[in-house]
Amino acid sequence: MTQKKYSDLQLLTRLLGMARPYWLPLSGLLLASLLAAPLALLLPLPIKIAIDSVLGKAPPPQFLRALLPAQWLDAQESLLWLVLGMIFCLALLQQTRNFVASLLRQYCGESLTIRLRTILFSHTQRLSLAFHDEKGSAESLYRIQYDARAAEEAVVNGVIPMVGSLATLIAMIVVVFRLDWLLTLVALAVCPPLLGATQIFRPRLRGRWEAFKKSESSVLELVQESLSMIRVVVAFGRERHEQGRFAERSATALRRKVLAVFLEGLLGILIALTIAAGMAGVLFVGIRHVLQDRLLLGDFLLMMLYLGMVYQPLQALATKTSAVQAALAGAARAFTVLDAKPDVVDRPGSRAIERTLGAIEFRGVSFSYDETPVLGDISFRVAPRTRVGIVGPTGAGKSTLLSLLPRFYDPTAGQVLLDGVDLRDYKLADLREQFAVVLQDTALVSMTLAENIAYGRPDAPLEEIIRAAQLADAHTFIMQTPHGYDSEVGERGARLSGGERQRIALARAFLRNAPVLILDEPTSAVDAATEEKVLEALERLMQNRTTFIISHSAGVVEKCDLLLYMDEGRLKQVRSRQSEPTVLS
Ligand SMILES: Nc1ncnc2c1ncn2[C@@H]1O[C@H](COP(=O)(O)OP(=O)(O)OP(=O)(O)O)[C@@H](O)[C@H]1O
Ligand SMILES: [Mg+2]
Repeated sequence: MTQKKYSDLQLLTRLLGMARPYWLPLSGLLLASLLAAPLALLLPLPIKIAIDSVLGKAPPPQFLRALLPAQWLDAQESLLWLVLGMIFCLALLQQTRNFVASLLRQYCGESLTIRLRTILFSHTQRLSLAFHDEKGSAESLYRIQYDARAAEEAVVNGVIPMVGSLATLIAMIVVVFRLDWLLTLVALAVCPPLLGATQIFRPRLRGRWEAFKKSESSVLELVQESLSMIRVVVAFGRERHEQGRFAERSATALRRKVLAVFLEGLLGILIALTIAAGMAGVLFVGIRHVLQDRLLLGDFLLMMLYLGMVYQPLQALATKTSAVQAALAGAARAFTVLDAKPDVVDRPGSRAIERTLGAIEFRGVSFSYDETPVLGDISFRVAPRTRVGIVGPTGAGKSTLLSLLPRFYDPTAGQVLLDGVDLRDYKLADLREQFAVVLQDTALVSMTLAENIAYGRPDAPLEEIIRAAQLADAHTFIMQTPHGYDSEVGERGARLSGGERQRIALARAFLRNAPVLILDEPTSAVDAATEEKVLEALERLMQNRTTFIISHSAGVVEKCDLLLYMDEGRLKQVRSRQSEPTVLS
């Protein structure tokens, strides 16, 4: 899957669209951000009043006259107390705002992350197996777990504070413009170079962050792979080698991160220097204005404080660039997954099925995983309730052939038909209901034994679970485990032996009670005596169902009504119990 290119605007619009269900708390957060501006404007006011009206002779500001009785404002001492009271009230207001904003930020941020994660997870599950074969699970894991943070980073820590900063900026500009327009213009002369610098850095920052994320996810991939095959690693004494690979990939990730942060720092220095130049210009012009009596000293001080506040959001806007680009790099990776189309999907108007009869036909089926063909022009027909054995050398394409039935993959050419209808014309969920599958390498879920058996029928009562386990000759060993049916099996069933896992998988198939059975070497990991018992159970299970069974065991093969002999992706021979073998090629 190649990384798609998205523009900043595309990504932000999609992220904002995703944030729509949280519009209420987000609006609250935006409001709290916007309140920061007037509160910030008010903060220096007591100091101005103290200097100009308590110490100096200027009358207190007009709005105080409207709010408070004149005798309070005219006496120096009461005015001083008023100033002190204002400082306290403003601090209280500001802290309340900070508190509410922080709560809302956490809530919105986490909710957005979970939402994007949920969408990514469910989409990843719907993507075709071909996608997972190619990508591996760690790559998807990284995208779901880490790249999904992009929604929070970009919306809650990016867009909202940026809108807040922008509003503060505009308010500050209006205020200082009225105090001294020339000074304001001098101060704002820094805007064009700031804008230019961020424009130049933006795409470069995105590229750096993208490279870093790629590297970091490859580290995760390595850890996951090594740990999932830890027995092989240990058995072949490759721990040091794996550590070396880990160190190498981590070092690349580190290098890439340092590069991104370096660029971010460089932009920070540029911004700070530009702003310092602006401050110097303002100081230079402002002092002249005070000397020429065009500006009160108190107003000049206020002006300098305000300008500091003009520069704060300006600086915030510019420095947020890097964080937003890092978030957008993650968003681009997440959206690349979301935009990958599952290739095994429901066709429009696809049919529902209750329970199939189990007549199956392969009609000129060819299949290839990528370029190299694995199955070539396979045709055969199976009547309902037939037991079909599939034999042939390893790599012949037996498992691949059967993986076309539940539509793990779709054929590249030809058709597979169930009860005379192309599989692709059925509703996918209904179609998969028709099969009970025992795969060649049985993976269990890290849950209890009972839950594993009931994986395909979570609502099955315990008696049926036990019955299925008895049929699969699993009951005896289950009862010997410390907690019986409630024993945990460990990740992928690691706490069980290969044969035990296989029998749990069989029990799963027994319980599922589907009209078509697909068994890929179901007795390969059990001893001859157990195989005997399992075969007896299978005998009962296979009655009244269409069964496909891949096996190298003579015991299994002789129970089949029809035998397909495969080699090199072709059907070489079809042998039926009733008639002479048909040699196809
Ligand atoms: N996911 C995959 N992606 C690419 N190629 C694959 C994939 N799975 C199998 N193959 C290839 O397809 C061919 C057929 O594999 P398949 O698993 O169907 O063989 P098989 O007959 O079941 O063999 P075995 O008896 O060893 O299980 C092999 O050459 C294998 O390398
Ligand atoms: Mg196989």
